[in-house]
Amino acid sequence: MAMVQQKKTKQANSSSNLLNPHCHLLDTKGLSVEDIQAFLKLANTHKQFLKNNPCNKKQGVLTGQVVVNLFVENSTRTRSSFELAAKYLGAEVLNFDVTTSAFKKGETLLDTLNNLMAMHVDAFVIRHPESGILHGLQSSIQNKACLINAGDGRHEHPSQGLLDTMTMLEVCGELNNKKVVIVGDILHSRVARSNIHILNKLGAKVTLCGPPSLLPSAFSELGVAVEYDLTQALTGADFVMTLRLQLERQESGLISSLNEYIEHYGINHERLKLAQPSVKILHPGPMNRDVEITSALADDLKYSLILEQVNNGVAMRMAIIETLLKKREALLH
Ligand code: CP
Repeated sequence: MAMVQQKKTKQANSSSNLLNPHCHLLDTKGLSVEDIQAFLKLANTHKQFLKNNPCNKKQGVLTGQVVVNLFVENSTRTRSSFELAAKYLGAEVLNFDVTTSAFKKGETLLDTLNNLMAMHVDAFVIRHPESGILHGLQSSIQNKACLINAGDGRHEHPSQGLLDTMTMLEVCGELNNKKVVIVGDILHSRVARSNIHILNKLGAKVTLCGPPSLLPSAFSELGVAVEYDLTQALTGADFVMTLRLQLERQESGLISSLNEYIEHYGINHERLKLAQPSVKILHPGPMNRDVEITSALADDLKYSLILEQVNNGVAMRMAIIETLLKKREALLH
Protein backbone atom coordinates (compact mmCIF):
# COMPACT_ATOMS: atom_id res chain seq x y z
CA MET A 1 0.00 0.00 0.00
CA ALA A 2 1.16 3.48 -0.79
CA MET A 3 2.02 5.21 2.46
CA VAL A 4 0.77 8.70 3.03
CA GLN A 5 3.45 11.18 4.00
CA GLN A 6 2.53 14.08 6.20
CA LYS A 7 5.69 16.15 6.07
CA LYS A 8 3.85 19.30 5.16
CA THR A 9 0.46 19.87 6.64
CA LYS A 10 -1.08 23.13 5.52
CA GLN A 11 -4.16 22.98 7.72
CA ALA A 12 -4.61 22.21 11.37
CA ASN A 13 -5.78 18.65 11.86
CA SER A 14 -7.08 18.94 15.37
CA SER A 15 -10.54 17.63 14.52
CA SER A 16 -10.98 13.99 13.74
CA ASN A 17 -14.16 12.38 12.51
CA LEU A 18 -13.13 8.93 13.63
CA LEU A 19 -11.70 9.93 16.97
CA ASN A 20 -14.71 12.09 17.74
CA PRO A 21 -17.64 10.37 19.43
CA HIS A 22 -19.76 9.86 16.35
CA CYS A 23 -20.00 7.42 13.50
CA HIS A 24 -20.63 9.66 10.49
CA LEU A 25 -18.70 10.74 7.40
CA LEU A 26 -20.07 14.18 6.56
CA ASP A 27 -17.05 15.85 4.98
CA THR A 28 -13.29 15.64 4.52
CA LYS A 29 -12.69 19.00 6.15
CA GLY A 30 -13.06 17.39 9.56
CA LEU A 31 -10.84 14.38 8.86
CA SER A 32 -7.37 14.17 10.35
CA VAL A 33 -4.39 12.77 8.46
CA GLU A 34 -4.70 9.68 10.68
CA ASP A 35 -8.35 9.26 9.66
CA ILE A 36 -7.40 9.50 5.98
CA GLN A 37 -4.57 6.99 6.45
CA ALA A 38 -6.91 4.58 8.21
CA PHE A 39 -9.45 4.72 5.37
CA LEU A 40 -6.67 4.26 2.78
CA LYS A 41 -5.18 1.30 4.60
CA LEU A 42 -8.48 -0.55 4.92
CA ALA A 43 -9.47 0.28 1.34
CA ASN A 44 -6.22 -1.21 0.09
CA THR A 45 -6.89 -4.38 2.08
CA HIS A 46 -10.35 -4.64 0.51
CA LYS A 47 -8.97 -3.94 -2.96
CA GLN A 48 -6.49 -6.81 -2.57
CA PHE A 49 -9.24 -9.10 -1.27
CA LEU A 50 -11.45 -8.32 -4.29
CA LYS A 51 -8.51 -8.90 -6.63
CA ASN A 52 -7.56 -12.21 -5.02
CA ASN A 53 -11.12 -13.52 -4.77
CA PRO A 54 -12.79 -12.62 -8.08
CA CYS A 55 -15.32 -15.45 -7.82
CA ASN A 56 -16.12 -15.11 -4.13
CA LYS A 57 -16.07 -11.42 -3.26
CA LYS A 58 -18.27 -11.60 -0.20
CA GLN A 59 -16.97 -11.16 3.35
CA GLY A 60 -19.16 -11.55 6.39
CA VAL A 61 -17.88 -8.68 8.52
CA LEU A 62 -21.19 -6.81 8.42
CA THR A 63 -23.63 -9.72 8.36
CA GLY A 64 -26.91 -8.68 9.95
CA GLN A 65 -26.41 -4.96 9.36
CA VAL A 66 -28.62 -2.89 7.08
CA VAL A 67 -27.45 -0.04 4.85
CA VAL A 68 -29.94 2.25 3.10
CA ASN A 69 -29.05 4.08 -0.11
CA LEU A 70 -31.16 7.24 -0.18
CA PHE A 71 -30.39 9.25 -3.29
CA VAL A 72 -32.47 12.36 -3.94
CA GLU A 73 -30.22 13.12 -6.94
CA ASN A 74 -29.20 10.78 -9.75
CA SER A 75 -26.03 8.75 -9.54
CA THR A 76 -24.31 5.91 -11.38
CA ARG A 77 -20.93 5.44 -9.69
CA THR A 78 -21.57 6.45 -6.08
CA ARG A 79 -24.88 4.69 -5.65
CA SER A 80 -23.81 1.45 -7.36
CA SER A 81 -20.48 1.24 -5.59
CA PHE A 82 -21.94 1.93 -2.13
CA GLU A 83 -24.50 -0.81 -2.80
CA LEU A 84 -21.87 -3.29 -3.97
CA ALA A 85 -19.50 -2.32 -1.15
CA ALA A 86 -22.15 -3.01 1.50
CA LYS A 87 -23.10 -6.32 -0.15
CA TYR A 88 -19.46 -7.45 -0.45
CA LEU A 89 -19.16 -6.88 3.31
CA GLY A 90 -22.22 -9.06 3.94
CA ALA A 91 -24.68 -6.27 4.84
CA GLU A 92 -28.26 -6.05 3.60
CA VAL A 93 -28.95 -3.09 1.30
CA LEU A 94 -32.20 -1.21 0.84
CA ASN A 95 -32.22 1.09 -2.18
CA PHE A 96 -34.82 3.58 -1.02
CA ASP A 97 -36.80 4.74 -4.04
CA VAL A 98 -37.40 8.43 -3.50
CA THR A 99 -39.67 8.71 -6.54
CA THR A 100 -42.26 6.22 -5.22
CA SER A 101 -41.97 7.09 -1.52
CA ALA A 102 -43.89 9.44 0.81
CA PHE A 103 -40.88 11.73 0.44
CA LYS A 104 -42.60 12.79 -2.78
CA LYS A 105 -45.67 13.79 -0.72
CA GLY A 106 -43.58 16.15 1.35
CA GLU A 107 -42.46 13.92 4.24
CA THR A 108 -39.27 15.43 5.62
CA LEU A 109 -35.90 13.77 5.29
CA LEU A 110 -35.63 13.47 9.08
CA ASP A 111 -39.06 11.82 9.35
CA THR A 112 -38.06 9.47 6.55
CA LEU A 113 -34.85 8.50 8.39
CA ASN A 114 -36.68 8.08 11.72
CA ASN A 115 -39.21 5.76 10.10
CA LEU A 116 -36.48 3.70 8.48
CA MET A 117 -34.56 3.55 11.78
CA ALA A 118 -37.71 2.15 13.38
CA MET A 119 -37.21 -0.72 10.91
CA HIS A 120 -33.71 -1.37 12.36
CA VAL A 121 -31.58 0.34 9.76
CA ASP A 122 -27.91 0.82 10.70
CA ALA A 123 -26.51 3.24 8.11
CA PHE A 124 -27.72 5.77 5.57
CA VAL A 125 -25.86 6.74 2.42
CA ILE A 126 -27.45 10.03 1.40
CA ARG A 127 -27.17 12.21 -1.69
CA HIS A 128 -29.16 15.42 -1.54
CA PRO A 129 -29.15 18.73 -3.47
CA GLU A 130 -29.02 20.84 -0.29
CA SER A 131 -25.52 21.79 0.88
CA GLY A 132 -24.86 20.84 4.49
CA ILE A 133 -28.13 18.97 5.03
CA LEU A 134 -26.41 16.02 6.72
CA HIS A 135 -24.81 18.25 9.31
CA GLY A 136 -28.30 19.40 10.24
CA LEU A 137 -29.42 15.80 10.76
CA GLN A 138 -26.53 14.76 12.96
CA SER A 139 -27.89 16.04 16.28
CA SER A 140 -31.21 14.24 15.75
CA ILE A 141 -29.76 10.96 14.53
CA GLN A 142 -26.84 10.90 17.00
CA ASN A 143 -25.30 7.41 16.82
CA LYS A 144 -28.54 5.54 16.24
CA ALA A 145 -27.40 5.14 12.62
CA CYS A 146 -24.37 6.12 10.57
CA LEU A 147 -24.74 9.03 8.16
CA ILE A 148 -22.59 8.90 5.04
CA ASN A 149 -22.53 11.90 2.76
CA ALA A 150 -22.73 10.75 -0.88
CA GLY A 151 -22.75 14.35 -2.13
CA ASP A 152 -24.69 17.31 -0.69
CA GLY A 153 -25.28 20.21 -3.02
CA ARG A 154 -22.06 22.02 -3.76
CA HIS A 155 -20.67 21.29 -0.29
CA GLU A 156 -18.77 17.97 -0.21
CA HIS A 157 -18.46 14.47 -1.65
CA PRO A 158 -16.10 12.89 0.88
CA SER A 159 -15.98 9.33 -0.49
CA GLN A 160 -15.03 10.75 -3.91
CA GLY A 161 -12.21 12.77 -2.36
CA LEU A 162 -10.92 9.67 -0.55
CA LEU A 163 -11.07 7.41 -3.61
CA ASP A 164 -9.36 10.06 -5.73
CA THR A 165 -6.58 10.27 -3.15
CA MET A 166 -6.21 6.47 -3.14
CA THR A 167 -5.95 6.51 -6.94
CA MET A 168 -3.26 9.21 -6.99
CA LEU A 169 -1.27 7.54 -4.20
CA GLU A 170 -1.18 4.29 -6.17
CA VAL A 171 0.67 6.16 -8.90
CA CYS A 172 3.19 8.13 -6.89
CA GLY A 173 3.34 6.75 -3.34
CA GLU A 174 3.05 10.12 -1.67
CA LEU A 175 1.39 13.43 -2.50
CA ASN A 176 3.68 15.76 -0.59
CA ASN A 177 4.70 18.59 -2.98
CA LYS A 178 2.91 16.98 -5.92
CA LYS A 179 1.14 19.51 -8.14
CA VAL A 180 -2.54 18.65 -8.50
CA VAL A 181 -4.52 20.86 -10.89
CA ILE A 182 -8.32 20.85 -10.66
CA VAL A 183 -9.91 22.30 -13.80
CA GLY A 184 -13.46 23.39 -14.49
CA ASP A 185 -16.56 24.44 -12.59
CA ILE A 186 -14.98 24.74 -9.15
CA LEU A 187 -17.76 26.99 -7.82
CA HIS A 188 -20.43 24.29 -7.97
CA SER A 189 -18.17 21.30 -7.33
CA ARG A 190 -18.47 19.26 -4.15
CA VAL A 191 -15.77 16.97 -5.59
CA ALA A 192 -13.31 19.86 -5.75
CA ARG A 193 -13.98 20.86 -2.14
CA SER A 194 -13.54 17.35 -0.76
CA ASN A 195 -10.32 16.89 -2.73
CA ILE A 196 -8.93 20.28 -1.70
CA HIS A 197 -9.28 19.49 2.02
CA ILE A 198 -7.56 16.10 1.73
CA LEU A 199 -4.83 17.25 -0.65
CA ASN A 200 -3.99 20.18 1.62
CA LYS A 201 -3.65 17.87 4.61
CA LEU A 202 -1.35 15.54 2.65
CA GLY A 203 0.93 18.37 1.54
CA ALA A 204 0.02 18.49 -2.17
CA LYS A 205 0.27 21.78 -4.07
CA VAL A 206 -3.24 22.39 -5.36
CA THR A 207 -3.97 24.72 -8.26
CA LEU A 208 -7.56 25.51 -9.26
CA CYS A 209 -8.23 26.61 -12.82
CA GLY A 210 -11.39 27.71 -14.60
CA PRO A 211 -13.18 30.77 -15.92
CA PRO A 212 -13.59 33.55 -13.32
CA SER A 213 -17.38 33.06 -13.34
CA LEU A 214 -16.88 29.47 -12.12
CA LEU A 215 -13.85 30.11 -9.92
CA PRO A 216 -14.15 33.03 -7.48
CA SER A 217 -10.77 34.31 -6.31
CA ALA A 218 -11.92 33.74 -2.70
CA PHE A 219 -11.06 30.04 -3.18
CA SER A 220 -7.45 31.04 -2.50
CA GLU A 221 -8.52 31.36 1.16
CA LEU A 222 -8.59 27.54 1.20
CA GLY A 223 -4.80 27.57 0.85
CA VAL A 224 -4.68 26.78 -2.87
CA ALA A 225 -3.48 28.63 -5.97
CA VAL A 226 -6.15 30.13 -8.21
CA GLU A 227 -5.17 30.40 -11.88
CA TYR A 228 -7.34 31.49 -14.80
CA ASP A 229 -4.81 30.62 -17.50
CA LEU A 230 -4.78 26.90 -18.28
CA THR A 231 -1.28 27.03 -19.76
CA GLN A 232 0.12 28.39 -16.49
CA ALA A 233 -1.93 25.94 -14.43
CA LEU A 234 -0.87 22.83 -16.34
CA THR A 235 2.84 23.63 -16.34
CA GLY A 236 4.60 20.99 -14.25
CA ALA A 237 1.38 19.28 -13.15
CA ASP A 238 1.63 15.76 -11.71
CA PHE A 239 -2.13 15.20 -11.78
CA VAL A 240 -4.92 16.96 -13.65
CA MET A 241 -8.44 16.50 -12.36
CA THR A 242 -11.06 17.64 -14.84
CA LEU A 243 -14.58 18.34 -13.63
CA ARG A 244 -17.81 17.87 -15.50
CA LEU A 245 -19.07 21.11 -17.01
CA GLN A 246 -22.73 21.26 -16.12
CA LEU A 247 -24.14 22.22 -19.48
CA GLU A 248 -26.89 24.33 -17.92
CA ARG A 249 -24.14 26.80 -16.90
CA GLN A 250 -24.30 28.14 -20.43
CA GLU A 251 -28.03 28.85 -20.11
CA SER A 252 -27.43 30.63 -16.79
CA GLY A 253 -24.83 32.86 -18.47
CA LEU A 254 -21.88 31.64 -16.38
CA ILE A 255 -20.05 30.64 -19.55
CA SER A 256 -20.46 32.55 -22.79
CA SER A 257 -20.28 29.56 -25.13
CA LEU A 258 -19.37 25.91 -25.04
CA ASN A 259 -16.82 26.35 -27.82
CA GLU A 260 -15.11 29.15 -25.93
CA TYR A 261 -14.99 26.99 -22.78
CA ILE A 262 -13.44 24.12 -24.74
CA GLU A 263 -10.92 26.48 -26.33
CA HIS A 264 -9.77 27.89 -22.97
CA TYR A 265 -10.28 25.03 -20.50
CA GLY A 266 -10.70 21.78 -22.43
CA ILE A 267 -7.98 19.21 -21.66
CA ASN A 268 -6.38 17.40 -24.60
CA HIS A 269 -3.14 15.61 -25.49
CA GLU A 270 -1.48 18.76 -26.83
CA ARG A 271 -2.10 20.79 -23.68
CA LEU A 272 -0.89 17.93 -21.52
CA LYS A 273 2.63 18.39 -22.94
CA LEU A 274 3.00 21.29 -20.50
CA ALA A 275 2.65 18.92 -17.55
CA GLN A 276 5.13 16.41 -16.16
CA PRO A 277 5.83 13.54 -18.60
CA SER A 278 4.33 11.19 -16.00
CA VAL A 279 1.13 13.26 -15.64
CA LYS A 280 -2.13 11.41 -15.00
CA ILE A 281 -5.71 12.52 -15.61
CA LEU A 282 -8.67 12.04 -13.30
CA HIS A 283 -12.37 12.75 -13.78
CA PRO A 284 -15.06 11.95 -11.20
CA GLY A 285 -17.69 11.32 -13.90
CA PRO A 286 -20.06 11.65 -15.55
CA MET A 287 -17.97 12.96 -18.43
CA ASN A 288 -18.98 15.28 -21.24
CA ARG A 289 -16.75 13.75 -23.87
CA ASP A 290 -15.04 16.36 -26.04
CA VAL A 291 -16.09 19.17 -23.73
CA GLU A 292 -13.96 19.27 -20.57
CA ILE A 293 -11.74 16.44 -21.88
CA THR A 294 -11.24 14.98 -25.33
CA SER A 295 -12.61 11.51 -25.82
CA ALA A 296 -9.19 10.35 -27.04
CA LEU A 297 -7.49 11.48 -23.83
CA ALA A 298 -10.18 10.08 -21.55
CA ASP A 299 -9.64 6.65 -23.13
CA ASP A 300 -5.83 6.84 -23.29
CA LEU A 301 -4.64 4.50 -20.54
CA LYS A 302 -1.16 6.03 -20.64
CA TYR A 303 -2.72 9.05 -18.92
CA SER A 304 -6.25 8.26 -17.82
CA LEU A 305 -7.04 6.96 -14.33
CA ILE A 306 -10.77 7.40 -14.79
CA LEU A 307 -11.83 3.75 -14.58
CA GLU A 308 -9.26 3.09 -11.87
CA GLN A 309 -11.05 5.75 -9.80
CA VAL A 310 -14.26 3.77 -10.23
CA ASN A 311 -12.49 0.52 -9.33
CA ASN A 312 -11.06 2.11 -6.18
CA GLY A 313 -14.48 3.54 -5.34
CA VAL A 314 -15.78 0.12 -4.33
CA ALA A 315 -12.86 -0.66 -2.02
CA MET A 316 -12.90 2.82 -0.48
CA ARG A 317 -16.64 2.65 0.15
CA MET A 318 -16.18 -0.77 1.76
CA ALA A 319 -13.62 0.84 4.06
CA ILE A 320 -15.96 3.72 4.89
CA ILE A 321 -19.01 1.56 5.64
CA GLU A 322 -17.02 -0.95 7.69
CA THR A 323 -15.17 1.71 9.69
CA LEU A 324 -18.30 3.67 10.55
CA LEU A 325 -20.48 0.68 11.39
CA LYS A 326 -17.77 -0.74 13.66
CA LYS A 327 -17.39 2.66 15.28
CA ARG A 328 -21.14 2.81 15.89
CA GLU A 329 -21.13 -0.65 17.40
CA ALA A 330 -18.35 0.40 19.78
CA LEU A 331 -20.21 3.61 20.73
CA LEU A 332 -23.45 1.76 21.43
CA HIS A 333 -21.84 -0.78 23.78
N1 CP B 1 -18.60 10.82 -9.20
C1 CP B 1 -19.92 10.77 -8.98
O1 CP B 1 -20.44 11.25 -7.96
O2 CP B 1 -20.63 10.09 -9.96
P1 CP B 1 -22.15 9.73 -9.83
O3 CP B 1 -22.94 11.02 -9.91
O4 CP B 1 -22.44 8.82 -10.98
O5 CP B 1 -22.36 9.07 -8.51
